[in-house]
Amino acid sequence: MSRSLRPLVIGTTVALFTVACGGNEPAEAPTPTPAPAAEPAPTAATLTNHAPLAALPAAPEVPLPKLELGRRLFHDTALSGDGTLACVTCHSFEHGGAEPRRTSTGIRGQVGPINSPTVLNASLAIRQFWDGRAADLAEQAAGPVANPIEMGATWEDVVARLGADESYVEAFRAAGYEGVSQANITDAIAAFESTLITPGPFDRFLGGDLTAMNEQQQRGYMTFREVGCIACHTGPALGGQSFQKMGAVQDYFALRGGELTEADQGRFNFTHEEGDRHFFKVPTLRNVSQTAPYFHDGSQADLSGAVRIMGQVQLGRQLTDAQVADIVAFLGALDGELPAHARMPAAAAPAAAAE
Ligand code: HEC
Ligand code: HEC
Repeated sequence: MSRSLRPLVIGTTVALFTVACGGNEPAEAPTPTPAPAAEPAPTAATLTNHAPLAALPAAPEVPLPKLELGRRLFHDTALSGDGTLACVTCHSFEHGGAEPRRTSTGIRGQVGPINSPTVLNASLAIRQFWDGRAADLAEQAAGPVANPIEMGATWEDVVARLGADESYVEAFRAAGYEGVSQANITDAIAAFESTLITPGPFDRFLGGDLTAMNEQQQRGYMTFREVGCIACHTGPALGGQSFQKMGAVQDYFALRGGELTEADQGRFNFTHEEGDRHFFKVPTLRNVSQTAPYFHDGSQADLSGAVRIMGQVQLGRQLTDAQVADIVAFLGALDGELPAHARMPAAAAPAAAAE
């Protein structure tokens, strides 16, 4: 990649056939044909190295009985204290695997402290939760069930409830588990979640189908690279690979206004290291057009606003309206297809699933 000294011409038009973008390209041995190594003014279509971004990997193969069990648990309100909430309540497939509220509403209408991130492609992240306090999906799944303001149950009750349901006992056996236990429940949920990989137009584009993204999306992709979003939104999920300060170059919380909350402290709450204050896991940008509102505090209702703030507080740049529009168009190319097995088949609602 070369986003070096060249003045950027983004925001007007980046001609897809541009070979050299005039100006201060260092003089090199003259070559009659474009030398692959020199990579002059790459455009989305000519870019050969897309690092640090990448197409999504294939979802792991999970045997059907385990997949169906995990899916059933993910949709089952029996995992909550009063039978009103399931994982899917706050991680809705109609909302990109997240929830259309600033912060989550848990059992008995209690308003939680933080915005619900998406479960789609979550298995690709280095750790789980905004502050990274869970190592992986199975460890994560233990959290909401017993969280008094989320699902508000106790694991003892949940294990007893499912263990008394013959259809669950059979389903755990069919999935290869020895009995119903907390570890087996969270393992099955994590296995289901690991299959929620959502490839879309951007992946087809990276695979060589240059028609998969329209001109504006391609321009937005180049802007996303050139201005430096890729410094943090990396990898196949365009995020999930590091913890970064919210407000790397400008104080986000002063800009936002309002009281600082405990949730605003971010990773500091978990590590208690001063250097981690206001650090958050960089969220994935996959399906981001569907997961409004944005940021850990859900303070941004629309995606253009979130992109503009990112430019300002993470990169010290005032993005132009055209740049913001192009980036938002590109982010739309990160909408993917949910695997067909993700939703409960209508005929197999949790209570009626016994065969
Ligand atoms: C009441 C709403 C609610 C319910 C119910 C709920 N979650 Fe969440 N979930 C959240 C919120 C809010 C967060 C972020 C919490 C944080 O980071 O501190 C979250 C975080 C997560 C994450 C981490 C994603 C990431 O990028 O870090 C995963 C995975 C997840 N939930 C899966 C589940 C599963 C599985 C269940 C059911 C066992 C569940 N959730 C139930 C609201 C909910
Ligand atoms: C220095 C690292 C860094 C850079 C550079 C960066 N981001 Fe972010 N981005 C983050 C972090 C950290 C968050 C989560 C912040 C929070 O929720 O408080 C985030 C959140 C977002 C969100 C909201 C996602 C959600 O689910 O709530 C969007 C959209 C986004 N970034 C887009 C961009 C764009 C576009 C650029 C380039 C203009 C960019 N980011 C540059 C670190 C970065």
